[in-house]
Amino acid sequence: DYNIIVDLGSGDGGITKLLATRVPHKRVIAIDANPAMTAYGQSVNSLSTIEYITQDMSVSWPELSDDIRRLESKVDLIFSNFCFHYFNDKSQLLSQCRQLLATGGCIHAVCILHYDLNHKLPANARKEWCLSIDQQMDVWRRALEGNGFAIDVFECKDETYPMSRQQIIAVLPVTIATLKSKFETNEQFVSETRGLEDIMFDVLCNPVADRHNPNAWTQFLANKDVNEVVIHIGCGPGNTAKLLAKELNPEHIVGIDINPNMIASAKQHNAMANTDYYIQDITHEWSQWDKSLQKLAGKVSVIYSNFTMHWVRESDTAAQNMAKLLSNDGIIVMDILYCGHIYGTAGADKRAELERQLRYPSEQRVVGQWVTAFKSAGLNRIHIKYWEPKSFLTDSAGAEEMNAVLRELIVKSFETRMMSKTLFNGKDLIECNRELWNFVISK
Ligand SMILES: C[S@@+](CC[C@H](N)C(=O)[O-])C[C@H]1O[C@@H](n2cnc3c(N)ncnc32)[C@H](O)[C@@H]1O
Repeated sequence: DYNIIVDLGSGDGGITKLLATRVPHKRVIAIDANPAMTAYGQSVNSLSTIEYITQDMSVSWPELSDDIRRLESKVDLIFSNFCFHYFNDKSQLLSQCRQLLATGGCIHAVCILHYDLNHKLPANARKEWCLSIDQQMDVWRRALEGNGFAIDVFECKDETYPMSRQQIIAVLPVTIATLKSKFETNEQFVSETRGLEDIMFDVLCNPVADRHNPNAWTQFLANKDVNEVVIHIGCGPGNTAKLLAKELNPEHIVGIDINPNMIASAKQHNAMANTDYYIQDITHEWSQWDKSLQKLAGKVSVIYSNFTMHWVRESDTAAQNMAKLLSNDGIIVMDILYCGHIYGTAGADKRAELERQLRYPSEQRVVGQWVTAFKSAGLNRIHIKYWEPKSFLTDSAGAEEMNAVLRELIVKSFETRMMSKTLFNGKDLIECNRELWNFVISK
């Protein structure tokens, strides 16, 4: 139980309210420099125990308002989400925190580290002010230790965010704006970050390219219709086709699925002028493929596949076929859901059923097989990332798509590995972390 919690940089108060509902406390002081934010928090995210205070925390202790200074040595927890990176003087920030905290109090903060832009740049173009991840961690470590903090947990996580074209366009300038604290004046910031979009975009969104493309961002903005043909493998009932149409704006979208019922449903519910759906097993030899699909050889700019490839065992043939379809500068974006853990939790009685449905090798083998398959197919630029996006399983939704035995085993496997939380009445909704290997592949 906390007596006083400070949420430093509380923004619109959404997280503050969540914090207040989850963590027992007497008072939560939500501090933000932006009066519009505290006003919004007060009107939309108020609770009887939350007090919103407008205060720029980057000033020195004597310059802080009386309301804040009165909290000296009284705060049990300083919580901060996505705010500490705004502070230029980390040591001063932590000294303020030190002064606010009661004996035994602690800070729980999540903040952004800036991308290491230099690692892609040639030596003569490197930015002096841009630190590597290790150097940035060192700055924080020194500031923490310099202010007498003992560090319990200190980790840097590499998160993957799937983003649409529109989101990328919106987020990139914001990401550059977070660099502002590195410069003394606005003029310096403007002159030092001129043209940075290209570098930033290249580092963030084009991880497959091994050399820096100095015009990456400009080209991205200009080539609105770069994705002429998009193939969605395992398109199911075609819901994603609409998203792909909106985000990638291709001339032609082709959904393929092995299941005739899915294709029938896609044709019925998600037909669009520039969309075609085909029943096609991607592990069939190319010569047996649907003739219309064969005509797309060498013309496909994006092959996209989501939650599908874990069913595909014949990765060699599948990779050969994808390579056949791909245009010279096309890319494959796909993921592999790891389901192999489920065997460990299945009892002997369920094994046979599971074998029939999943036939899943070890994680190392399944990822390795795909890498080898793509390389043998001449696709050598392979970028792989592991991540655990949150998802929800319900007792009823999707039941028609998934066999009951498999569903039960998946849930049990999440539970035994402490990866699931059961929400709502302990029954209906299971929150779990999917274990995904993301692949981005090109020639
Ligand atoms: C990205 S938002 C995060 C908001 C909230 N914590 C959340 O997770 O939704 C960062 C917030 O930090 C605030 N902030 C930035 N610099 C600050 C400073 N020097 N003192 C207080 N708040 C600051 C901004 O006004 C903004 O509302």
